Amino acid sequence: MNFLARRTIREYTEEVVSEEKIQEILKVALFAPSSRNKRGVEFIVVRDKKTAAKLTECKKIIQNMPLEADFSVVVIADKTLSDTWIENSSVALTLMQLKAWDMGIGSCWMQVRGRVDKNGIDSEEVIKRILEIPEKYGVLALMTFGYPKEKKEGYEFSEVNNDRIHYEKY
Ligand SMILES: Cc1cc2nc3c(=O)[nH]c(=O)nc-3n(C[C@H](O)[C@H](O)[C@H](O)COP(=O)(O)O)c2cc1C
Repeated sequence: MNFLARRTIREYTEEVVSEEKIQEILKVALFAPSSRNKRGVEFIVVRDKKTAAKLTECKKIIQNMPLEADFSVVVIADKTLSDTWIENSSVALTLMQLKAWDMGIGSCWMQVRGRVDKNGIDSEEVIKRILEIPEKYGVLALMTFGYPKEKKEGYEFSEVNNDRIHYEKY
């Protein structure tokens, strides 16, 4: 895979992602590395448009991606099982994005944790109500997926600031 070609995709075509491809993405997520190999991260696949419409309103700044995407995956983790639930969820999200990209499927990370909706209600609580998620779970983010409508250039190595890499000492 060409990692510099990977981009976040927020606009999607109408093409349906096959169930097999969705399973391939989820399989990678299920085996994502996790602290002490606890594997406490769980995934809720949302395809229903009515539910997707509700998800668009989970944050103050409305993003229509869940509605326009072919499907979304809400990433949740049992907070009582692992104190690294945020890190574990992040790894799973990242792997899903890379696996999807490798299959020609675009995706976008939509942050939930630490956000509020237009009424000031915690976005995690909003999502938990919509999807009937038990209290002990944290909701880090959701990821929207679909075949890319927008075309984005990949990155060039020369664009990044090499000063961020340190050797031996800061
Ligand atoms: C932790 C995290 C949170 C993000 N939250 C959002 C978000 O809420 N909405 C959104 O449109 N993009 C979100 N993104 C996507 C970033 O905006 C995107 O990765 C960044 O602009 C770089 O673009 P690229 O992925 O094409 O390289 C998020 C990405 C990360 C890693």
